[in-house]
Amino acid sequence: MEKNEAAGRLEQLKELINRHNYYYHVLDNPQISDAEFDRLMKELLELEKLYPELVTPDSPSKRIGGMPVSSFQQVKHLVPMLSLENIFAESELKDFYRRIGRVFKTGVISLVGEPKIDGLAVSLYYEDGVFKRGSTRGDGYTGEDITHNLLTIRSLPLRLKEDITAEIRGEVFIPRKDFLLLNKKRESQGLPHFANPRNAAAGSLRQLDPRIAAERPLDAFIYSLIALSGTKELSTHWDSLQYLRELGFKVNDNISLLNGLDEALEYCRLIGARRPELPYEIDGVVLKVNDLERQRQLGHTSRAPRWAAAFKFSSEEGISRIRDIVVNVGRTGTVTPVAVLEPVLIAGSVVKRASLHNEDILKEKEVLIGDEVVVHKAGDVIPEIVKVLKEKRTGKEETFSMPTICPSCNRGLTRLEGEVALRCVNPACPAQLIERIKHFASRGAMDITGLGDSLAEQLYVSGLVKDVGDLYFLKKEDLVKLDRMGEKSAENLLEALQQSKQNDLFRLLVALGIRFVGERAARILALHFKNLHRIASATFEEITMLEEIGPKIAISLQEFFKQQETKDILQKLEMAGVNFSLLEGNKETAADNSFKGLTFVLTGALTNYTRQQAKELIESKGGKVVNSVSKNTDYVLAGDNPGSKLDKAKELGIKILSEEDFSRFSNRKT
Ligand code: IVH
Repeated sequence: MEKNEAAGRLEQLKELINRHNYYYHVLDNPQISDAEFDRLMKELLELEKLYPELVTPDSPSKRIGGMPVSSFQQVKHLVPMLSLENIFAESELKDFYRRIGRVFKTGVISLVGEPKIDGLAVSLYYEDGVFKRGSTRGDGYTGEDITHNLLTIRSLPLRLKEDITAEIRGEVFIPRKDFLLLNKKRESQGLPHFANPRNAAAGSLRQLDPRIAAERPLDAFIYSLIALSGTKELSTHWDSLQYLRELGFKVNDNISLLNGLDEALEYCRLIGARRPELPYEIDGVVLKVNDLERQRQLGHTSRAPRWAAAFKFSSEEGISRIRDIVVNVGRTGTVTPVAVLEPVLIAGSVVKRASLHNEDILKEKEVLIGDEVVVHKAGDVIPEIVKVLKEKRTGKEETFSMPTICPSCNRGLTRLEGEVALRCVNPACPAQLIERIKHFASRGAMDITGLGDSLAEQLYVSGLVKDVGDLYFLKKEDLVKLDRMGEKSAENLLEALQQSKQNDLFRLLVALGIRFVGERAARILALHFKNLHRIASATFEEITMLEEIGPKIAISLQEFFKQQETKDILQKLEMAGVNFSLLEGNKETAADNSFKGLTFVLTGALTNYTRQQAKELIESKGGKVVNSVSKNTDYVLAGDNPGSKLDKAKELGIKILSEEDFSRFSNRKT
């Protein structure tokens, strides 16, 4: 083909391909088949190969991922990329609205509500309608040039419908479904999983080689326009979002124009309810003053605009199906039913199992195998089943009943008086022994690096370790015979075991897994008795004399040390040279008393802790948690949707901590 003719055809092809790309990736409404699209693309690539001088910046061939860059260039943002003020409760949203209302002294303020996409902020520079450069947020003032990677995102237009010059802002993300597929693919390639879609998106954009980004299912929603020249006159944020859509950008469908506070509150609730079903992850709602002139009048602080706020959601729910119900035997013999789920992405991690707690809860929730269920996850906590979607039942679901014998040792299960849980009381039950080995080696206990769950299981099943005492008699020649255990890993494990012998007494106490003896009790006991033998022979009175140590712990300790199994294990540990004494002057042992004398009240739902965990954390530092707010309360920890306790606290002028404040506070004080 002659060059002239080729140029003409290339123009046609570019226009066609970009148009169909738009139909497919922005409108989600393809007009031609994939094969037809590929044919057009192939023709374009061939012509461009013949006449490289005809390649333009808006050619769809740019999407494939060109040459790697050698480093990331710095890009100065024309307007700083600020962050947002976070709001965790409806009462704080009311405060935000009132604050704005005071400035304008008018009744109703119009806001725009947008889902807060959990991805990465990017800034895109278009010159005369053509994509020129794109960058990360960086420190808000200067970011890194990631144009080469952004070009690969199919939903970002290379050429706009109008020849404007503007800086455009949006969020790059990976859709939930694509994320699960991406991890599956990585698994089959022997590559490690990405922790969550956000990390995967960030990792993809921070590559020097754009061919990597081109293979990742990146997508982008656009939420802001900084007009420089040639743009339409706009007076509201809402209009600018519509305009961005007209220009060819993907603007979220769940945005909404909100008239006043009530509609804003309603919107937050609505999006919160819709969150589990959205095909992408969000972590809240962004509320922005609609009138652009008012935005300018309100201005911004050094950190965030005064005209916007992020209403953050806390824990999250997802929808899945119960594939099976199995029972799990814990280290103390407690038998709990566990739902095996179809993997579902919730709040940034893949959930495959959910605890059903005990038989009573199983019955109360009427859970069947095959049921579609709503799963709830809060922070690092074990996910739970909130409710069964009974209307989705097909009749093929199956009932589950708790076993009467232990699935691990086949002994009959018992229900101890006053307890809801079924228990396997066989001290030689393999499942319990394995759980005890896992616990012994865990981070909060002896902290034996390299001895994770699957190795603990292998060690037990192979017969090398029957109880934790045997760990210290392992030999390299035995270890290397295990699956996936090389010389180096065996040596490392032996070294970690050797090191753990020098641990302080409190760690050993935790590691032995005595019922009711958690970290705080272990520290108190270690500090007082100074030696394991003295704890073992202490009388009930000597133990209960200690502050914070009650009769429940004392009875449990005496029961534990009385048993022959315990005596055998302690003998092995002592023979191996495991330290049984308090390491005087060891800073680690001293109980953390940073909250001593402080009283906390918890209200609302927290993101990173359950109520129970927050309570334990406070108590582990010597603080107290009480139920109601009074003038004796020192702090109120307020989560999402706090109750009247928050109002009461405000009335009494008590310090209120958000979850973020609390995390900072508890870390600083350690
Ligand atoms: S507006 C000055 N709108 O949230 C206003 N941000 O916590 C700046 N984000 O850095 C942002 N979805 O990465 C805005 N619809 C949305 C958003 C959104 C997600 C992110 C963005 C920003 C962060 C602030």
